[in-house]
Amino acid sequence: MAPAAQPSSPPDPLAPATLGPVNLRNRVIKAATFEAATPNALVTARLVDYHTAVGRGGAAMTTVAYLAVAPEGRTERRQIYWRPEALPGLRRLTAAVHATGAKVSAQIGHAGPVANPRSNRLPSLAPSRRFNPLAMGIDRAATHADIQRIVDAHGRAAAYARDSGFDAVEVHLGHTYLAGSFLSPRINRRRDEFGGPLANRADFPRRILAAVRESAGRDVAVIAKMNMTDGVRGGFDLDDSIPFARMLQADGHLDALELTGGSSLLNPMYLFRGDVPLSAMADTQRPLLRLGMKAFGRALFRHYPYEPLYFRDLALRFRRELTLPLILLGGITDLDGMRTAMNDGFEFVAMARALLREPGLINQIRRDRTTRSLCTHCNLCVASIYTGTHCPFDTEGTTALTNAGTLPLPG
Ligand SMILES: Cc1cc2nc3c(=O)[nH]c(=O)nc-3n(C[C@H](O)[C@H](O)[C@H](O)COP(=O)(O)O)c2cc1C
Repeated sequence: MAPAAQPSSPPDPLAPATLGPVNLRNRVIKAATFEAATPNALVTARLVDYHTAVGRGGAAMTTVAYLAVAPEGRTERRQIYWRPEALPGLRRLTAAVHATGAKVSAQIGHAGPVANPRSNRLPSLAPSRRFNPLAMGIDRAATHADIQRIVDAHGRAAAYARDSGFDAVEVHLGHTYLAGSFLSPRINRRRDEFGGPLANRADFPRRILAAVRESAGRDVAVIAKMNMTDGVRGGFDLDDSIPFARMLQADGHLDALELTGGSSLLNPMYLFRGDVPLSAMADTQRPLLRLGMKAFGRALFRHYPYEPLYFRDLALRFRRELTLPLILLGGITDLDGMRTAMNDGFEFVAMARALLREPGLINQIRRDRTTRSLCTHCNLCVASIYTGTHCPFDTEGTTALTNAGTLPLPG
């Protein structure tokens, strides 16, 4: 009689793995952290350095944050949007990252109500017309033509990403950007086939993923970053997000799903946890905004205590429901956290702040498995997205750019 199959032991997070068609040297992905390194909406040496540092530091794959699929989908106008002019720089970037032995992913999306229309000089879009207190203006309701245009733009962006040498495309469905805002019953008040029941609210993000899969081709991995909960009353929550994740799994367009939470629009600190760097953020703003932020910022930037693996409990609910490879994110900073994730059945981990603090952390962990991250989740890096994203305690970090006076929101 054949021996009973042993339950397989969890994988070593630092051993090679495959994500869809892509071979990775380990299971650690650098999560997107908007770099604020593109003053002319084109790749700069600073952006290349930012990602090659992560590559040299041992992570399997770095994620170039938030490359907008359309000009009005930028959170502010210095952000790269996909267009032929941006491609030579992106090709240089992917080649430089590959030379470090790492892979590189492009986060693509449309910021919708999180866009800064003043900076973009274009109206911001939302599922339904609404007052946008961040922009002090009105978000225009996306028409059917907008929806088709933006779905097509995602497909085009995926083709551009493939042709520029990216190994993966990560579609941003979270944080109440446009796709996430369609999912939110609080923001999506449409009465047509894109509003109301989950199946309708989910239609736009599902069309986006179908278009991305179609264009990405067979050699590029497709990932979605989705909210488990917006962390706001009346928002997209587990009752919707678990069935939505099941729909994505059934659609079959994804190689992995990255689980996040929070809303750049309504509850940004839910994404991060830890200290609220309100005065540091206010100090980067023009005088009027600075006053407003100091006076009213506490209501928007609520405090959530930090704890390691802070999304784990929510993410386990998804793990139990899905067979799709999952990426655990949120408060992963050391080998213990990575191992916990593997023991729980997550295939990959994503790390943001710990790798901003020390891009070389993965190699250090390889050398000494007890290494602890120096990140204190003070979140001053979050304040730095106004001036050139960096950890102020990373003394080898690059110098700040001047981006003051705009109001991009993290995430
Ligand atoms: C400075 C900064 C910028 C960020 N920008 C983005 C972004 O552009 N897109 C995104 O999906 N998430 C963004 N995030 C969120 C991170 O990807 C991640 O979800 C969050 O920081 C939790 O991971 P961590 O605990 O490892 O930091 C940003 C986070 C930080 C700290």
